[in-house]
Amino acid sequence: MLSITYLSAASAALTPQELAHLVEQSRCRNAAKDITGVLVYSAGTFVQTLEGPTAAVTELYDDIVGDVRHTEVIEVWRETIMRRTFSTWSMAFRELTEAEAAAVPELNGVLAPSPPADADLSLSPAVLLRLVDDGAGSH
Ligand SMILES: Cc1cc2nc3c(=O)[nH]c(=O)nc-3n(C[C@H](O)[C@H](O)[C@H](O)COP(=O)(O)O)c2cc1C
Repeated sequence: MLSITYLSAASAALTPQELAHLVEQSRCRNAAKDITGVLVYSAGTFVQTLEGPTAAVTELYDDIVGDVRHTEVIEVWRETIMRRTFSTWSMAFRELTEAEAAAVPELNGVLAPSPPADADLSLSPAVLLRLVDDGAGSH
């Protein structure tokens, strides 16, 4: 199995309805492909982890990179995995306010509309798991 984590910038601020639609559609499609993961959205920035069968994850990631709803996709983590980090989520989702994002050290300088070139891009799936595991995330 493969795990990929990336950052990107939303092309335009998404309405809550557009976000909810994206998450619902992703959950359905991911479940059908045995893909799990998490999507975090804050102030126009996405962070997502995709994990599952290598071919399915690679194919989905290529599709997502080409999606016009976001730009500046930066891959920050890719590893072969034996176990999933998000085994019970077809796509966990968490929207963070700017204040919440500022309270997460690993996100400092990353969850800005344009991540600075020197941002620490060591964002791991474990960091994202903490965000959805502290009670506010949704399956
Ligand atoms: C930030 C972001 C995250 C996405 N995550 C997923 C996802 O987890 N699963 C999925 O099927 N599509 C996801 N999509 C949508 C895909 O890019 C694409 O629209 C979808 O797979 C349908 O592709 P198709 O119209 O080529 O069939 C995401 C899009 C964006 C902008």
